[in-house]
Amino acid sequence: MARETWATRLGFILAAVGSAVGLGNIWRFPWQTAENGGSAFLVVYLAIVLLVGVPGLLGEFVIGRRSKKSPVGALRELSGSKKWGYVGAFSVITGISLLSFYSVVGGWILRYLLESGASVVGGNPAYFTNPGQYFGGVSAGADAALYHLLFLGLTALIVFAGVRKGIELGTKVMMPAILVLLVALAGWAATQPNAAAGYAFFLRFDPSVLSENFFAILGPAAGQALFTLSLGAGTMITYSSYLDEDRSLPFDGAAIAVLNTSVGVITGLVVFPLLFSQGINPTETGTGPGALFVGLAGAFSQLPAGTLIATAFFGVVTLAALSSSISMLEIPVAFLVDEYDISRKQAVVGTTGFVAVTGTVCAFNPAIFGFVAGTLVNILLTAGLAAFLLFVGWVMGREALDEFTTGAGSFGRALGTPWLLSVGVVLPLFLVFTLLTHFGVDGT
Ligand code: PHE
Ligand code: NA
Repeated sequence: MARETWATRLGFILAAVGSAVGLGNIWRFPWQTAENGGSAFLVVYLAIVLLVGVPGLLGEFVIGRRSKKSPVGALRELSGSKKWGYVGAFSVITGISLLSFYSVVGGWILRYLLESGASVVGGNPAYFTNPGQYFGGVSAGADAALYHLLFLGLTALIVFAGVRKGIELGTKVMMPAILVLLVALAGWAATQPNAAAGYAFFLRFDPSVLSENFFAILGPAAGQALFTLSLGAGTMITYSSYLDEDRSLPFDGAAIAVLNTSVGVITGLVVFPLLFSQGINPTETGTGPGALFVGLAGAFSQLPAGTLIATAFFGVVTLAALSSSISMLEIPVAFLVDEYDISRKQAVVGTTGFVAVTGTVCAFNPAIFGFVAGTLVNILLTAGLAAFLLFVGWVMGREALDEFTTGAGSFGRALGTPWLLSVGVVLPLFLVFTLLTHFGVDGT
C-alpha cells in the first residue's frame, strides 16, 4: 500500500502545531514560569525557542521530508548505515515514554472536564470546592489508571483512522476550537478584578531577576522549549515524512513556532489574571505540577459562572492534550508500519496495548511517574535532538542544505549555510551543556 501523505499543506502545519500545542503550553509553561521568576523565564524561553527551537525543528523536517520515513528508516537510509538506524530507534522508546506519562495527565484533565461539565448540567458546582484531591491522594491509583485508559483510547481512535482521516482531520477541527476558546477566555479573564496584578507578574520584565538567575533559568527554559515544540522525540521527523510537496520548510517552521508560542502566551493571559483575581499568588501556592490546577480550580469555584468557565478551560486543555498525544503514538506506529509488514490498525492496537500497561504503572506509582515525566523525558528529548542535529550537520551535510533551501525563496536560501553551521556545531554543544545543567530540573 502506498505510504499516506497529508492532503494539504495547511493540514501538515495544523498537525504539527497540534503536536506542539499541548500540556506543555497549558500545564507545564505557566507552572515553569511561576517557579522560575515569571517574566525573566519568559524572556529566556522565547530566546531559546527562536535560536534553538526553530533551527532544531527545521533539522527534524529536513530528515523527515528527505527520507519520507519515520526516524529508524530515515537515519538508516540517509546514512546508508544500520548503526544510525539504532540511533533512530531511540525515538520509539521516547515516544512510548512520553505517552506513558502524558496519557496519565491527559486522564486527569479529562476527568476535570467531565466532572466540571457534569456539574453544569446538574447545576452543582460542588466539585471544585475540593479540587486538591485530584492532585493529592486520588491522582495516583485505580481512578488515575482508569482515566488514563480512557484518554489513551481516544488517542488510539484518532491514530487508528490514519494520517488524513485521523490526525489531519482531527487537528483541523481541534486547533481552531482551541484558539477561539482561549481567546474568549483571555478576554473574559481581563474583566476580572485585580487582573492587572496577573499581567504584571507574567509580563513586567525585571532585568535584575534575569541577571541574578540566568544559569538557573537556562536549563528549565531549554527543556521547556524542546518539550513545547515536540523536539527530540522524532515526532516532527515522522510528521514531515508525510509531506509530498516541496514548499518552504523555513516558512512552515517559523509559522509553527509562532503559533505554538502564541498559545503559550495567551494561556498565560488566562491563567495569571485568574489566579491573581482570586488572591492566589502562583509562587506561593506551593510547588509542583498540581499547584496550578489546584489554584485554578479554586479560582473557578469562587467565580460566577465558574463551572461554565471551567468546562471551557478544561475543554481547551483536553483538545490540546489529544492533538499532542496522537503525535506521540504516531512515532511507534509509523515505525512498525514502515519497518515491518503489518497494517496501521495492527500497529495501533499493539502499541496502545503496550502503553496501556506502561501508563498504568505510572498511574499507580507517583515515583515512577515523576521519573518518566521529569528526568527521563528531559534526557531523551535533549539527547535525541542533539543526535538528530549532529546527523543533519555531519552525515547529511550538503544534502541537508539542499533540502532546506528547496522551495525556500531567496531569503530562505541565504539562511541555509548559517543554519547548517548552527545545527551541526552550536546547537549540539548547547544541548549537551543544558543536559548537564538539567539535572536540577524536575518535570513533575
Ligand atoms: N509539545 C507537546 C506539548 O507541549 C509535547 C510533546 C513532546 C509532543 C514531544 C510530542 C513530542 O504538550
Ligand atoms: Na507545546
